Amino acid sequence: MTTPQPPAPDSPAPAPAPDRRPRHLGRLLAIAAVASALVAIGVAALLTNIFERKQEARNTFVQVVALTDTTTDPAIWGKNFPQHYDSYRRTTDMVHTRYGGSEAVPRTPTAVDPRTVVAQSRLEEDPRLIEMWKGYPFSKDFREERGHAYVLEDQLYTERQRVAQQPGACLHCHASMYAGYMKAGNGDLIKGFEVINPLPYAEAKARVGNHPVACVDCHDPADMSLRVTRPGFLEGIRALKATQGVENYDPNRDATRQEMRTFVCGQCHVEYYFKGKEKRLTYPWQRGLMVDSMFAEYEQNGHKDWTHEISGAPVLKAQHPEFEMYNQGIHARSGVACADCHMPYQRTGAQKISDHHVRSPLLMINQACQTCHKISEEELRNRVFNIQDRTFEMRNVAIDALLDLTRGIGEARKRDSVDPKVKLAQRYQRAAQFFADFVEAENSMGFHADQEAVRILGNSVNYSRLGQAALRGEQVPASPLEAAAASAHRPKSVAPLGRPTPAATGGTKKGD
Ligand code: HEC
Ligand code: HEC
Ligand code: HEC
Ligand code: HEC
Ligand code: HEC
Repeated sequence: MTTPQPPAPDSPAPAPAPDRRPRHLGRLLAIAAVASALVAIGVAALLTNIFERKQEARNTFVQVVALTDTTTDPAIWGKNFPQHYDSYRRTTDMVHTRYGGSEAVPRTPTAVDPRTVVAQSRLEEDPRLIEMWKGYPFSKDFREERGHAYVLEDQLYTERQRVAQQPGACLHCHASMYAGYMKAGNGDLIKGFEVINPLPYAEAKARVGNHPVACVDCHDPADMSLRVTRPGFLEGIRALKATQGVENYDPNRDATRQEMRTFVCGQCHVEYYFKGKEKRLTYPWQRGLMVDSMFAEYEQNGHKDWTHEISGAPVLKAQHPEFEMYNQGIHARSGVACADCHMPYQRTGAQKISDHHVRSPLLMINQACQTCHKISEEELRNRVFNIQDRTFEMRNVAIDALLDLTRGIGEARKRDSVDPKVKLAQRYQRAAQFFADFVEAENSMGFHADQEAVRILGNSVNYSRLGQAALRGEQVPASPLEAAAASAHRPKSVAPLGRPTPAATGGTKKGD
């Protein structure tokens, strides 16, 4: 039996051949077809049943303790799921890969920061970043990210906390929040979110407790199914789906199981900003998930993260857009989820469980990639390095170009800070900076969507070029958005590839 092939993307289904058979024969054939379809459905149902039973046999667990929505402590969940808990706890490991993982750097604890080990400083690795973020807390302390075990302490003790007062909204992605939100909102998740967001960090922290991202944040304690508990994602994905004509989307009701294996990560690994004085944590997906759409949204709502100290430009800090970038890549398009690569199945004795030691897949190529790619580990690793080395080179080119523009504006504004040429160049810096930072901040160094990463960097270099031309008084489009519209021209005969990626759409219900 051959497996049916799905139609190639965007190609219409083949037209049926004209039917030249006598009518009664057609009817007989139709009856036979229905009968064999029924048998096939029966067989499929049986197979599904057998498969499910096998799964159940594999994943039998003993319910030792009762779990509820207020069971935040993962150690308690660990009584029912000791193997999951063990692998979850291993997120304390620190192993460096070429561009990812992290390096354990010993430090002498102080009164304000008791950590004895931190991840390496990205500012020391690349001092250009200090200039790129001049005037913003990121220029004081920015480190390589490490495992989930550290999400809370690294946020608590980063020097950025001491440079500027941070809001409770920061905790959304750094602590186990579900119980805290529900309590603050008297059982209403969104109300709790609204209460916690604007609080001073320490006050908010006191209300949510001491656990980093925990079982309850991704799982429903009643049946262990995946769920989204983060208001930022619930609101963001609803806005995104509305741009695609789907109203009132709720991932917990409408997403497929495979989508949920990505959405639980999209709760935090995304670009965000704090909206208004309510500090409402917002994902800028109101026009789409691509960097261009997000930049357009920021241009429209006028948001800035800070004023650049050298150039005076109202700039933006992009942050960990893994979900957005992944959605532009070949794996999302092929229906591969974050969990397929970062939490692959792991065999422990007779059981097969999802590896909760979430980390770089390059540290487990065998489970993470070779289930689908039947090529050697070494070759797979080199394919990743190829993509990453190219992206890294282009990232460097883009940052150099951006800093040339930034310094140029700095010089020009010393002479005349209200010169329209300076104002226009600042707008181009804002665009060039957001685009370069988008790839810099995305943590796969291009792997999640290789051509997209390089497309973004190419556009960043173009914005830097146009900014410099504006400074020289040359004729350039009146804004980066106009420049983008002008450079996006394509021959009239080429229709845009309109089909959204499966991970961002998919109409079927959970449980498929
Ligand atoms: C096809 C496999 C694949 C999928 C799917 C995938 N990733 Fe990755 N991811 C990688 C690889 C490979 C790297 C690079 C790791 C490295 O450089 O060590 C990476 C890097 C990362 C990193 C940085 C890891 C580190 O150790 O520094 C994060 C965070 C991340 N991915 C999150 C996600 C999220 C969130 C999703 C889904 C939205 C996702 N990934 C989907 C393969 C994948
Ligand atoms: C939308 C979710 C989200 C919010 C909100 C958020 N973070 Fe993070 N944060 C992440 C993710 C994901 C990482 C890991 C990826 C990375 O470092 O790029 C991270 C990493 C960090 C790190 C470790 C790496 C570094 O930058 O040195 C610190 C410290 C940190 N965040 C502080 C903060 C502070 C302070 C705030 C509030 C201003 C905040 N975070 C708000 C998701 C978030
Ligand atoms: C509640 C928010 C949150 C959720 C949900 C979340 N992450 Fe993270 N993740 C973070 C933060 C914050 C960090 C950085 C922690 C630090 O540096 O202290 C991080 C770090 C990572 C790392 C780096 C690990 C390393 O050793 O370098 C990977 C890989 C990763 N996350 C992947 C995922 C995947 C895959 C999912 C979904 C299964 C996911 N994350 C879900 C917030 C989250
Ligand atoms: C960042 C999100 C996240 C966190 C936190 C998390 N899990 Fe999971 N868990 C997943 C994903 C993704 C799967 C795969 C589910 C699927 O395929 O439907 C999973 C699957 C499971 C399963 C089903 C069997 C299996 O192995 O696939 C169990 C049981 C489980 N997790 C227990 C736990 C426990 C216990 C904790 C806390 C110690 C925990 N999980 C924390 C994301 C998470
Ligand atoms: C669940 C299946 C699955 C997993 C797991 C998976 N891939 Fe893939 N990968 C695919 C599919 C499907 C494609 C698209 C090409 C195709 O259709 O043959 C692809 C494409 C690629 C490509 C080509 C990218 C391009 O731009 O053309 C690379 C490189 C790659 N994968 C590496 C990896 C690595 C490294 C891992 C592990 C971290 C991994 N894959 C995990 C299914 C998978």
